[in-house]
Amino acid sequence: MAKKIGIFVGSSGGVTMGAGQLLQEELGGELVSMEDDFDSIEQFEEYDVLLIGSSTWGQGDPQRDWVDPLYDLKNDEPDLSGKKVAFFGAGDQKTHGEHFVSALGKMRDIFGALGADVQYGKWPVDGYEFKESLALEGENFCGLAIDDINQAQLTASRVQAWAEQLKNEMKL
Ligand SMILES: Cc1cc2nc3c(=O)[nH]c(=O)nc-3n(C[C@H](O)[C@H](O)[C@H](O)COP(=O)(O)O)c2cc1C
Repeated sequence: MAKKIGIFVGSSGGVTMGAGQLLQEELGGELVSMEDDFDSIEQFEEYDVLLIGSSTWGQGDPQRDWVDPLYDLKNDEPDLSGKKVAFFGAGDQKTHGEHFVSALGKMRDIFGALGADVQYGKWPVDGYEFKESLALEGENFCGLAIDDINQAQLTASRVQAWAEQLKNEMKL
């Protein structure tokens, strides 16, 4: 049976939302705006595959519409075992190179602690220049890093390549 895909996006300026829309075109599934469409963390349980999108703000924090859902996940501890989860989001490697796309790492820790399978969608750090990131796993980010401020010309091709990667890794 086809896997049910939910694409959950928190995006203040629209960059991560744009990536979410492109992912939906490539992979299908439902696009859930954390600002407009999200009511409760039970919505995560409706899907087999969760693509979790957030830009990074403050000192490496997830976008504001993720604050309450992440709090609820940590508090309520739903069992997410069996779910395939991958992370994506926008950042700015130049001005915010000390916390570049760190939100992805914070969200990986939370979803991973609930039993979700977070091994998918790792993305090489080649081609980026930054100082630190909580999203780092050796030579990879724990998900797709987008930098539409400094590398806008790469955004669409990065998202498309990542969608292809997920098709193979998650057998979509
Ligand atoms: C006040 C402020 C704080 C930011 N903090 C970070 C940060 O810690 N890490 C990072 O990678 N990008 C940071 N950014 C850059 C945003 O993530 C970037 O503008 C991104 O494209 C926004 O994506 P969105 O349109 O999906 O919200 C920050 C931007 C602003 C204006």
